[in-house]
Amino acid sequence: MSKLSIRDLPLKGQRVFLRVDFNVPLDDSGAITDETRIRASLPTLRYALERGARLILASHLGRPKGRPDPRMSLRPVAQRLGELLGRPVAFAADCVGPEAEQAGAALSDGAAVLLENLRFHPEEEKNDAEFARRLAALADVYVNDAFGSAHRAHASTEGITHWLRPCAAGLLMEKELEYLGKAVENPARPYVAIVGGAKVSDKIDLLRNLLKLADTVLVGGAMAYTFLKAQGIEVGRSRVEEDKLNLANELLRSAAEQNKALCLPVDHVVADRFDASASPEIVKGAAIPAGRLGLDIGPATRSRYAQEIARAQTVVWNGPMGVFEMPPFAEGTLAIARAVAASPALSIVGGGDSVAAVNQAGVADRITHVSTGGGASLEFLSGMKLPGVEALTDRP
Ligand code: 3PG
Repeated sequence: MSKLSIRDLPLKGQRVFLRVDFNVPLDDSGAITDETRIRASLPTLRYALERGARLILASHLGRPKGRPDPRMSLRPVAQRLGELLGRPVAFAADCVGPEAEQAGAALSDGAAVLLENLRFHPEEEKNDAEFARRLAALADVYVNDAFGSAHRAHASTEGITHWLRPCAAGLLMEKELEYLGKAVENPARPYVAIVGGAKVSDKIDLLRNLLKLADTVLVGGAMAYTFLKAQGIEVGRSRVEEDKLNLANELLRSAAEQNKALCLPVDHVVADRFDASASPEIVKGAAIPAGRLGLDIGPATRSRYAQEIARAQTVVWNGPMGVFEMPPFAEGTLAIARAVAASPALSIVGGGDSVAAVNQAGVADRITHVSTGGGASLEFLSGMKLPGVEALTDRP
């Protein structure tokens, strides 16, 4: 990696501003419903604490619109983090000002405090320089382990790096960049990318970049109906982005010009309405009859896509193959999760829905790398620079 790592820093007695991504889902009672991101930060936290760092942990949670909102407090996360680390983690009820300053100053070597939600201040998302300076004033060095937020140029991910040096990557950040990097630099071939989701418009840059990088792109989810319709194939009442038909044709042409395979579903699971209680029907062939809407890839598509995945050396997956949150239309996405897990390829899964699918299929431990970043992994694989990574200090 071209950026400085936490492993390069002397940590003993140092106050480290550690940006983590503890943007975890909470239920109505404030209980954490998925602690994957907290667990993913533990190697960095343990590494730093064992070496005597004084950790000032900072994160956002949700989108509180720049105002304190008790439903998005990080307090329950501090509690759970302490349990997972096996040592208490203090909590400061604000991320700047006297409370944060006192909490930071009170730390002894090998102790940690979690600051309250950064987004309770509007200056965080505005990347306000003065706010960034106040965050920086809490610490001696900066470490960013929040890969999931690295696509945001916010005060805690970008602005702060103008006030605090050195700025290093944490272990999770390094791991994410290492594995995602394998998908964009000299990937082992054959390279199969699987792209799903509702809209082509959400994935234009991803599709363009993966058509350059991969040998085969397998398309699923509602975006496939836009591609099919663009080719003049009947799609019934399926969801289609009418204003993206030309773009879909342009992508199909670009695939052909580059001699790449852009594969579309050859059969479907359809229903007469978008409803979990609708009866699923299998439609053989690419065309969907009038009055029906496509809600999942069909069995022939599943096995065709699985064959491609089985012979790949690199697999990247972003986006579900159908409406997998409705059980009658989940099988296509789950079948892809199982195929990716069974493949000998280096496999990388990013994006909230595909990550949920590998968890639901019980195969997450057989995927080489399950990214903790949804938007960040999407932008990275789309070929964009991530401001939170760019801002880190270059290795000498
Ligand atoms: C995420 O969950 O993708 C990150 O934590 C970023 O959150 P945001 O989309 O609210 O900026």
